[in-house]
Amino acid sequence: MKFMGANELRESFISFFESKEHLRMESFPLVPKNDKSLLLINAGMAPLKPYFTGIQKPPKSRVTTCQKCIRTGDIENVGKTSRHGTFFEMLGNFSFGDYFKNEIIPWSWEYVTEVLKLPKDKLYVTIYLEDDEAYEIWTTKTDIDPSRIFRLGKDDNFWEVGTVGPCGPCTEIHYDRGENVAPVTNVEDFVAASDADRIVEFWNLVFIQFDKQEDGSYAPLKNKNIDTGMGLERLAVVVQDVDSIFDVDTICALRNLVCEIAGKEYGKTYQDDVSIRLITDHIRSATFMISDGIMPTNEGRGYVLRRLIRRAARHGRLLGIEGSFLAKLSAEVINGSKAGYPELEEKKEFIFKVLTNEENQFNKTIDQG
Ligand code: GLY
Repeated sequence: MKFMGANELRESFISFFESKEHLRMESFPLVPKNDKSLLLINAGMAPLKPYFTGIQKPPKSRVTTCQKCIRTGDIENVGKTSRHGTFFEMLGNFSFGDYFKNEIIPWSWEYVTEVLKLPKDKLYVTIYLEDDEAYEIWTTKTDIDPSRIFRLGKDDNFWEVGTVGPCGPCTEIHYDRGENVAPVTNVEDFVAASDADRIVEFWNLVFIQFDKQEDGSYAPLKNKNIDTGMGLERLAVVVQDVDSIFDVDTICALRNLVCEIAGKEYGKTYQDDVSIRLITDHIRSATFMISDGIMPTNEGRGYVLRRLIRRAARHGRLLGIEGSFLAKLSAEVINGSKAGYPELEEKKEFIFKVLTNEENQFNKTIDQG
């Protein structure tokens, strides 16, 4: 396995799919366009829904992106665990009625084993229960050991986001982080090892074949499509062989700066670590949201932003930080991510101003209270 920084990983994925004739597209903004079902973009395929349903014509039938995403459903756990976060980058490649299972399965194996050089004896694959076709392709078009393929049901191997929209069965690639352990040989042990975080899923290859309707039925789409999603931070945890997303190179630099500003050492007390991780995560989300034009307000996505900024400011106080500090951290977010998102650098003065205003307003309210 070869060490790669998060920025290097992003580029390696996109370049790999460019070599398979995909069009490289910039990340879409976090604010969804013409999609009332979403407050914020939460998956690589979310801004591409009109291309899957055929409402719009894509610029090319093969596209690859690294999409900025926010998911706040688990916000209460952020900081408390080493794996929850609200901001992530989703690597993806997409086929709009172009290639299908026969191509994506061998390509994904090529990327994982030949480009990333992940050891084959650490990898497992899951497929949807009835998907004999996927099993056939995995076992004839790649050199995976068939005993490392498991079949799982709709909860695990059928992908849909929200209540309506493009969806379908999927196949997932997993990595075994266990050291000096025997490989799992049956589906019960596989599930138990996944629940214990020994085995982690890192790439989801979705065979988009249906458009889920408001009444819960699945309307077949005219075309068969591919939508893959691989969280960059999660992949970096595997490739950099670290324990959590907060130890990934770019995020660790930010975490270290939180510690420096607070005069704290990471890994000393649980309470401080919770605050350090929460601030590290929330400042990433807030920086990207402001760069996409979201302002802190009292409703909708503006309220999500306000909440993220205020939670970060409050945990700064818990760590003993005096005065405003979020702009300084935001500068580090920009430093670590501008290679993939040049808009951050262009808007940095504006981002710092919005953060500091909101932080000062919050501090004033607390001091008065
Ligand atoms: N669209 C596939 C995923 O986000 O996992």
